[in-house]
Amino acid sequence: MTVRHMLTDLDLAPDELHRVLNLAAHLKAHPYRIRALQGPQTAAVIFDKTSTRTRVSFAAGIAALGGSPLIINPGEAQLGHKESIADTARVMDRQVGLIIWRTYQQHRLQEMAEHSRVPVINALSDDYHPCQLLADLLTVREHLSATGRGGLPGTSLAYLGDAANNMANSYLLAGANAGMDVRIAGPDGHLPQQRIITEAEQRAAATGGRITITTDPAAALQGADVVATDTWVSMGQEEQKDERMRLFGDYQVNAEAMDHAAADAAVLHCLPAYRGAEVTAEVIDGPQSLVWDEAENRLHVQKALMAWLLVESDLADEQTVQ
Ligand code: CP
Ligand code: NVA
Repeated sequence: MTVRHMLTDLDLAPDELHRVLNLAAHLKAHPYRIRALQGPQTAAVIFDKTSTRTRVSFAAGIAALGGSPLIINPGEAQLGHKESIADTARVMDRQVGLIIWRTYQQHRLQEMAEHSRVPVINALSDDYHPCQLLADLLTVREHLSATGRGGLPGTSLAYLGDAANNMANSYLLAGANAGMDVRIAGPDGHLPQQRIITEAEQRAAATGGRITITTDPAAALQGADVVATDTWVSMGQEEQKDERMRLFGDYQVNAEAMDHAAADAAVLHCLPAYRGAEVTAEVIDGPQSLVWDEAENRLHVQKALMAWLLVESDLADEQTVQ
C-alpha cells in the first residue's frame, strides 16, 4: 500500500504543489464542490502544542469535505506518555481517514507516517510548517494576480528574524519548490541548518529558484516582492524570551525595513504576531499586509491538500493492487 503524506514542504513535487494550489483556488471560489471525506468519515487532528488557526481551519475544512473532525488537545491521548507512536498509528488508521498532527520533533511525524495506512499531515513541528506555506503561496499568487504580475517562479521573498525556526525552514523549502527567489536573514547562530539549505538548493536547481542566506537584513530585503516574518519566540522557547528579544532586534519588519523592499511589497506573517517585536503595528496593520487573507487561506489550501492526498493515496493503491 502506498500512502501519500505531507510531512515536509518537499513531500509535494513542484508540479504537485501547483496542482494543490490550483485546487485550493478552485475550492475557494466553489467551497462545497468536493466532498472527499464521505461517510461521514472522521479525520483526527492531534495537538501537542496550542493552536487557533490550525485547529479552526482543519475543523472547518474537514466538515466542508463531508467529514467529522476529531480534535485531540494536548495531553488528552495516551500518545507520547502511555503508548508509542507506532501503536497509536495502528489503532487510529483503522478508524479515521486522515491523521493531522502538531507536535515537537520531526521524527515523531515520520514514525507516525511509517505505521499509518492513512495520510499523515504535519500541522507544525519544530522543523517545518508546510500547511502554513501552502497558504502563504496561495496568498502570494493572489497578490501577484491582483497586481497584474506573473506567477510564483522568480518572485522574491525576504524572511527576517528567527532564521532557524520552522517557518524559516518552510519558506526555504516551499519557496524553492515554487521556483521563487528566497532570501533568509537572521543573526549568526540562528540561521538555517546546512542540511536544509542543501535540500532547498537542490530543489531550487530543479525549479529555477534561488536561495540566499544572509545576516544582512537590508541585502535580503532589496527590492523584495514579499516580506515575511514570524515570532521570535516559538512555542517551547518561552523561557528564552528576554534573550531572544535582544537577539533579533535588528531584524524587525518596520517602516524602515519596508523602504528596502519593492514599493508595493506584500507583508506576510503566519500569526500569532507580537506587535512591537518582530513586526510593528504600522506594518502588520497597514495597507501592504495580507495576513488576514493568509490566515483564511489555511482553510482553502488544507481542504485541497486533504482531498489531494486521499485521491493520490487511493490511486497509488489501485496501481499496486493487481
Ligand atoms: N499560524 C498558525 O499555525 O497558527 P496557530 O498556531 O494558531 O495554529
Ligand atoms: N514559529 C512559530 C509558528 C507558530 C505558528 C512556532 O513554532 O511557535
